[in-house]
Amino acid sequence: MNSRDRFLKAAHLEKTDRPPIWLMRQAGRYLPEYRALKSKYDFITLVKTPELATEITLQPLQRFSLDAAIIFSDILVIPEALGQPYSFRDGGGIQMEYCITSKAQIDALDDSAIVEKLNYVSEALKLTKQSIGNDKALLGFCGSPWTLACYMIDGGSSPDFSRTSQFAERNPKEFFLLMEKLSQSIIQYLNLQVDAGVDCVQIFDSWASVCTPENYHSQSLQWIKAIITGLKKPIPVILYAKGMNHCLKDQLKTQAKILSLDWTISLTDACAETNNQCALQGNLDPSFLTSDPQTVKEKTNAILKMSESLNGYIFNLGHGMLPTAKVECVEALIDTVTNYRYG
Ligand code: CP3
Repeated sequence: MNSRDRFLKAAHLEKTDRPPIWLMRQAGRYLPEYRALKSKYDFITLVKTPELATEITLQPLQRFSLDAAIIFSDILVIPEALGQPYSFRDGGGIQMEYCITSKAQIDALDDSAIVEKLNYVSEALKLTKQSIGNDKALLGFCGSPWTLACYMIDGGSSPDFSRTSQFAERNPKEFFLLMEKLSQSIIQYLNLQVDAGVDCVQIFDSWASVCTPENYHSQSLQWIKAIITGLKKPIPVILYAKGMNHCLKDQLKTQAKILSLDWTISLTDACAETNNQCALQGNLDPSFLTSDPQTVKEKTNAILKMSESLNGYIFNLGHGMLPTAKVECVEALIDTVTNYRYG
């Protein structure tokens, strides 16, 4: 079974010889070869130059035997394409060029020519696909409208995104307009990724937990559902909603085929909650990759054992790789998963 088949089978709830594995933010700061490129170019240049984005996408695959590649890019390319650029704060975190506070600013977001403006992602995907062929799965991604709105309204990283929840509460009509604009742009963006050859896409709703369970549907899930149903080809969609394990059943209603879990629920409980109706992905705590190879092996084996009873399971971290992850721990993780066999 090649890696791409293994990935697609697991995504479609079919048994595999072992779980496929890829890692969230696999092309991150923990790899010296990534840091070497980062010392020559700024992040946005790396994202916008297809040859460089392809090179970074392939870096983890050259080092480790992963089953899938996720394109090197960022969720914030959408606000950037709409006219709200981003940068990085010196102390870490995202800084948007301005905060959205008014209807006039929402109206001014330019959602024309999304496909043209994001053509560099299409080029990077095609180059990556040429290189990996059909041996490995190729993943695209986007941020959820809610998570993008968090950065756009709060103006960057925030401990609680309280400006966003207040804006949504106090200005429901304006908020609706923003979500509509974001959702329509994301549909075009994901369809661009489908045309460029992705096998699957992941929607990152990293700040879903800012929503109350009562508001979760109207502020986030309904827009995710609109995006999934707007895809031109029925490729499997992975939904990652950090901190929302109490709403897994609601997430299934978006028609996502795979739910990606953080590390605050056991696979067994998540499987019971979703009735084994969808494939699951995750849920190793990324901080274990800063410990030692033996600890990583034990924690990984515990998850693998629990995954035996699932219909479809994809190994991954519960969130993105930390910059302090140790390469020898990543190696131990991948060796443990790729040498495992389902009984
Ligand atoms: O695996 C991959 O490398 C795929 C590419 C990828 C990146 N960002 C590259 C990146 C993906 C899938 C993302 C998603 C992303 N970006 C999310 C959703 C996932 C999550 O982390 O919750 C979010 C919220 C963002 C926005 C963003 N971009 C943040 C919060 C940061 C970190 C800022 C900081 O200073 O800590 C980034 C930067 C970023 N995006 C890096 C990478 C490899 C690190 C850049 C660097 O320092 O070199």
